[in-house]
Amino acid sequence: MNKRPSIPADLVPEALRFALADPPVVGMILGSGLGHIANAIEAPIKVPASAIPNYPASTVAGHEGVFVVGRLAGHRAIVLKGRVHSYEGHSMAAVATPVRIFAALGVRFVVLTNAAGGINRDFQPGDLMAITDHLNLTRQSPLTGRNADEYGPRFPDQSQVYPPSLRQALRDHAEKQGVKMHTGVYACLPGPEYETPAEIRMLRILGADAVGMSTVPEATTAAHAGIPVLGVSMISNLAAGISKAALSHTEVLECAEKAGATLGQLLAGALPALCHSLPKSR
Ligand code: HPA
Repeated sequence: MNKRPSIPADLVPEALRFALADPPVVGMILGSGLGHIANAIEAPIKVPASAIPNYPASTVAGHEGVFVVGRLAGHRAIVLKGRVHSYEGHSMAAVATPVRIFAALGVRFVVLTNAAGGINRDFQPGDLMAITDHLNLTRQSPLTGRNADEYGPRFPDQSQVYPPSLRQALRDHAEKQGVKMHTGVYACLPGPEYETPAEIRMLRILGADAVGMSTVPEATTAAHAGIPVLGVSMISNLAAGISKAALSHTEVLECAEKAGATLGQLLAGALPALCHSLPKSR
């Protein structure tokens, strides 16, 4: 595993410079309809993503695009409510911009949440899955092009993007709260169309437990910078062909609305344990 690079503070956008005075421990990117945790931030300072020069504009309902900086369960946090996706026409590198900002601010770990279709037959809509690993099936990388040496190496290791200690801390906390937390592999497809039933059968053979259109660019960019990732999927629907129902973004948002509050409480409650469980080698 590569050592954390020392990233020049001048890479922090002007609009977020104040956060350098008391740097956040964690940076979080919240998926479709999963923005609840941002409301739990104490003394929040909100910075619209549009205040950051060249920041990619979001075009999707449920993805507001605002950074919230403050304290969560006693720990300094920066939370991005509303991510951008490559299917909106942005490059993978643009999609991962928030992680580069988090890295420049000095976060010790990153939390990525998403809404995903459930492939594993044990999963039900509303369930949560801690990500153990991912399949990047977009055929693109956020690291294409000149290597940003200040963040990490040309050929970064990805053998442990999601360290087990982080997800175990979350699972332990979930168990105490009586919340079921599956584990599994997340497959990222480019979208924006949902998958066909044949594609879902293929993904199951490939070892995927859940499928979505996000998270992987950010996770890869965090891994490049040596930053541990906790990834959590909220299963918003059974993947195509598993349930007879047609898939819709409205259904995804409705499910996220319900399960998002639980996920927000879990992440806030687990934060002290997560901070303690960070891999020692970093
Ligand atoms: N497929 C892809 N992305 C998704 C899904 C799905 O079934 N549900 C939520 N995001």
